[in-house]
Amino acid sequence: MPDSPTVRTVAEVMSAPPVTALPSETVAEAASRMAERRVGSVIVVDGSRPIGILTERDLVRFGASGAEGSGTKVSEWMTADPDCVGPGLSVQEAFTSLAEHGYRHIPVVDSGELVGVVSLRDLMRVASIQPVVHPSNIEAPPGLEGVIVAETSVGDVRGLEGFYHYREYSAVELAEKRRLEDVWFLLFEGHLPSADEGRAFLEEIRPLRVVPEAVRPILPAIARTGESLVIMDALRTAVSLVAYAEGFRPWLDIDAAQRRRDALRLCAVVPTLIMAIWRLSQGLEPIEPHGDLGYGANYLWMLDGEEPDPEIGRAVEQYQMTTIDHGFNASTFTSRVICSTGADVGAAVVGGIGALSGPLHGGAPSRALDLLDAIGTPENARPYLVDAVTRGERIMGFGHRVYKTDDPRSIFLRGVSERIHAEKVEFAKQVERTVVDVLAELKPGRNLYANVEFYAGVVMEHCGLPRRLFTPTFASSRVIGWCANILEQASDNRIIRPSARYVGPPPPAPVPAA
Ligand SMILES: CC(C)(COP(=O)(O)OP(=O)(O)OC[C@H]1O[C@@H](n2cnc3c(N)ncnc32)[C@H](O)[C@@H]1OP(=O)(O)O)[C@@H](O)C(=O)NCCC(=O)NCCS
Repeated sequence: MPDSPTVRTVAEVMSAPPVTALPSETVAEAASRMAERRVGSVIVVDGSRPIGILTERDLVRFGASGAEGSGTKVSEWMTADPDCVGPGLSVQEAFTSLAEHGYRHIPVVDSGELVGVVSLRDLMRVASIQPVVHPSNIEAPPGLEGVIVAETSVGDVRGLEGFYHYREYSAVELAEKRRLEDVWFLLFEGHLPSADEGRAFLEEIRPLRVVPEAVRPILPAIARTGESLVIMDALRTAVSLVAYAEGFRPWLDIDAAQRRRDALRLCAVVPTLIMAIWRLSQGLEPIEPHGDLGYGANYLWMLDGEEPDPEIGRAVEQYQMTTIDHGFNASTFTSRVICSTGADVGAAVVGGIGALSGPLHGGAPSRALDLLDAIGTPENARPYLVDAVTRGERIMGFGHRVYKTDDPRSIFLRGVSERIHAEKVEFAKQVERTVVDVLAELKPGRNLYANVEFYAGVVMEHCGLPRRLFTPTFASSRVIGWCANILEQASDNRIIRPSARYVGPPPPAPVPAA
């Protein structure tokens, strides 16, 4: 048995005496002291009592604000009344406190007097929690499969159980029992809304669904620029314009309330932009959002100006609900990477749209329907699929990085397509069984089953959505998941900056003269 480790205290690892500043000093003076003494923070004191802390992060925010360092007082940028720890606290407890709050530095106070400062780095050195000294000694598998790169309380996917959740609730159960706006609220606020909160939220988002005046005249040009319309391409351009027209600023320069407003604005306007672009590309005028319709019904209303059958509106909304979030998928990760640089919410959402447009991510539902069309008849399914897989083709709508069993979204959407008696559902079920069998025979051990995309197309086609709107419809609700992740990333950020192994010709090669 190893010896039980000695409990070490904060007093043993803190830096003392701490580097301090007065609230009346300028930010420039405090910053140069931090650089000189090579510390990441100064404790702001009134006599020997800590009244604030100014950290490197504050200086980054300050620098980005464009304010003048020699004319601004420390008291204006410090975090006032910082949490403190006592010198007798154990290193492990202090570490937990810092990690929980997202702090990097915390003042150490004994009987009201500042005696030192302890940093996350000090604690990690002794708490047998090793900091990453050099990232290149950690090899991540290709595609980062299974690598945990962040902590999140937005939701998660349990691939082996075939289960996924938003916050603490089963995503499928939410889609069965609640409306989409409730789930949107849940992801933004952390809890399901009360009746009053739900009403207030609807009021808040209603005006945000409207396309900004400055963007309206540009939309027709965007919709008609390409030879053939790719709505995801047009959408990312339009979202970028909305963020620009609305004056979105890097989140590092704005407070949490403004970040939330920016995120809400984009989530609300994306469905309207999608339908406006679609209609303009067809030579039709966009239709304004319908103030009284639910999320899915309004989406269909903006397609053709007709109030849909409630069952059909609900089916589309349920599809949108199942696709709001799904762990650290490629587009969510992309959004978080962009957000981690301090860029504006619009930049992060545009990146998410780009990632989602790829056929390996969100670009598959129309291809899954194309597959059904290409197979044509139940008898043709097996020979067609054997031939395709033997030629090394991927069967669209099957396989998943995380699910190694049935994708709960595909089971749910299969149920939705049965409920609305979608034309293709019986044929799709036959093809699904055949694909699973053929892949089990020809790709044994890979555990390939239908993913969300397979029945998504069946549902959307029955609800009257053209195939070119399938992936944009995925984006129409996934934007909520991206934004929840963006807000979470911004609330406790460190720039995401991994490394690559260089495998090219050995440097330095002499540069040939021009
Ligand atoms: C979703 C997807 C990108 C996951 O990829 P991944 O986790 O990187 O899995 P891999 O590409 O490593 O595939 C593992 C093996 O299964 C095979 N495979 C995976 N999905 C397949 C599919 N849809 N059809 C045929 N074979 C498939 C691969 O060929 C590979 O076989 P190999 O071991 O002989 O090389 C992949 O399953 C796919 O391309 N599916 C089709 C596109 C799709 O439906 N996308 C929507 C996702 S929600």
